[in-house]
Amino acid sequence: MMIRVLTKKELHRAKSLAQEYLGADLGRFSVMFEAYPELFIGCFISEELIGVAYGYPYFTVRPKEAHKVLLQGIAIRWDYARAGRGSKLLQFFEDQVVKLGFSVVTLGSAEGYVERFYLKNNYEPVSYRICIRGDWDNIRKQAGDYSILQIMREGERTIVYVPPRGGYNLAEKEAVRTFFGADEVNYIFEKQLQ
Ligand SMILES: CC(C)(COP(=O)(O)OP(=O)(O)OC[C@H]1O[C@@H](n2cnc3c(N)ncnc32)[C@H](O)[C@@H]1OP(=O)(O)O)[C@@H](O)C(=O)NCCC(=O)NCCS
Repeated sequence: MMIRVLTKKELHRAKSLAQEYLGADLGRFSVMFEAYPELFIGCFISEELIGVAYGYPYFTVRPKEAHKVLLQGIAIRWDYARAGRGSKLLQFFEDQVVKLGFSVVTLGSAEGYVERFYLKNNYEPVSYRICIRGDWDNIRKQAGDYSILQIMREGERTIVYVPPRGGYNLAEKEAVRTFFGADEVNYIFEKQLQ
């Protein structure tokens, strides 16, 4: 197995893999590759691409969090999964992040076993990303005991960020989902690298 930075020629294959496994919005993929090629990593077996990890500095979306890199996507083909390759790919990505002078990886996790993948790799939950359909008027007033870190509009949806009260807790996550009547609740995980 070989893990290395992708070349421009491999970008099309990497995009297809990301599309297939992450259903990714790949609008920014090529643009970000041009800007930060060091953060586009491939995992190869006999020259065949079987995994990708990619991201970009967070300041491009959140200027106040300039020390962070967003892991936008990571995937290992099913037929090669669950053998430690995803963790090695993630480690390589983290090393690249440090080399570029950043100190934190941040990401929005898919639900289910993927959460356990990040926990196993020493990521910590820093907030819930709560996706609510429509416009939640007076959200701060209605949020009760939940402290709101941030509220954003994304088209028809309202996205609310709330800190977890105590680490990774699926019962709390379900309570958050019910309280907000959320379409989706995802953990934001982060790892301090240095
Ligand atoms: C998430 C993903 C990249 C993990 O890659 P991987 O090579 O299978 O991961 P690893 O073998 O390094 O797994 C490390 C740990 O993660 C957890 N894990 C990974 N896959 C798991 C599964 N299917 N079920 C339960 N736990 C799992 C386990 O704790 C595992 O350690 P263990 O095997 O010692 O129990 C891969 O499953 C994948 O591509 N999934 C589809 C795309 C996706 O959802 N990406 C994440 C988007 S946020």
